[in-house]
Amino acid sequence: MSSLPILELRAVGKSYGANRVLKGIDLTVQRGEIVSLIGPSGSGKTTALRCMNFLEAYDEGEVWIKGQLLGYRSAGRTERDRDSEKSIAEVRRPVAMVFQQFNLWPHMTVLGNVAAPLVLSKKAGKADAHKQALAALTRVGLAEKANAYPASLSGGQQQRVGIARALAIEPEVMLLDEPTSALDPELVEEVLSVIRSLAQDGMTMVMVTHEMNFAAKISDHVVFMEAGKIVEAGPPEQLFGNTRTPRLQQFLKPWFDRSLTSVSGVA
Ligand SMILES: Nc1ncnc2c1ncn2[C@@H]1O[C@H](COP(=O)(O)OP(=O)(O)O)[C@@H](O)[C@H]1O
Ligand SMILES: [Mg+2]
Repeated sequence: MSSLPILELRAVGKSYGANRVLKGIDLTVQRGEIVSLIGPSGSGKTTALRCMNFLEAYDEGEVWIKGQLLGYRSAGRTERDRDSEKSIAEVRRPVAMVFQQFNLWPHMTVLGNVAAPLVLSKKAGKADAHKQALAALTRVGLAEKANAYPASLSGGQQQRVGIARALAIEPEVMLLDEPTSALDPELVEEVLSVIRSLAQDGMTMVMVTHEMNFAAKISDHVVFMEAGKIVEAGPPEQLFGNTRTPRLQQFLKPWFDRSLTSVSGVA
């Protein structure tokens, strides 16, 4: 097995017109690690995540997946030539994404949704795709919903289908963008518990989250972003227990205030 990082960002930058929303992001993710991205709304967390699989084209720096440059033919050029869609698909193959708003197709069954990426990538015939999709649904506890349509499921179940769809491609790293933030509070735990069980199985994950207790317990590294930059990064004990920057202290204050009044603080 290679000791290369599974995912590496080097000075990644991204602008929308004159608005530079990522300003040189460095991040290394080793196999089996769980990295949480936290930070205020608009700080660039989603954009950073989308650049990690080239759903969004970054325009500065480099993203490397298992030692392969993602999105461009060569690194360190001023004039960046975009790679072919085929090569991009090849390089990002180990990466799967779970979206904040689930992004399920309403006209397809749950099974159809989970099998779709396999069918579309032509990596599997339809029968195999359905078999793999059913295995992924079983993994998230929703095999019995295979023939249901997304609209008939709760938000928590829909997000578990979103996770199953990501799992079906047998990813080596999963990117999760606030996977529970669109859910009613009582549905959050079923989704966190699926993510927790993937973590226990050794899945590599980069997760944007506002669930601070969860991030504190599950993460190997926590990255705090603000205004397109990483302000503070380190193990959860440091970020939550020995916060160095005033900005992160300020960001975490509401959470600390809540934790003090509840029985469950940082583990
Ligand atoms: N497609 C887009 N076009 C223009 N600006 C965008 C686009 N997506 C995001 N932005 C801007 O980029 C910044 C970072 O957004 P985002 O990555 O969504 O932050 P976060 O996920 O931390 O809330 C924001 O100022 C947002 O308005
Ligand atoms: Mg976001």
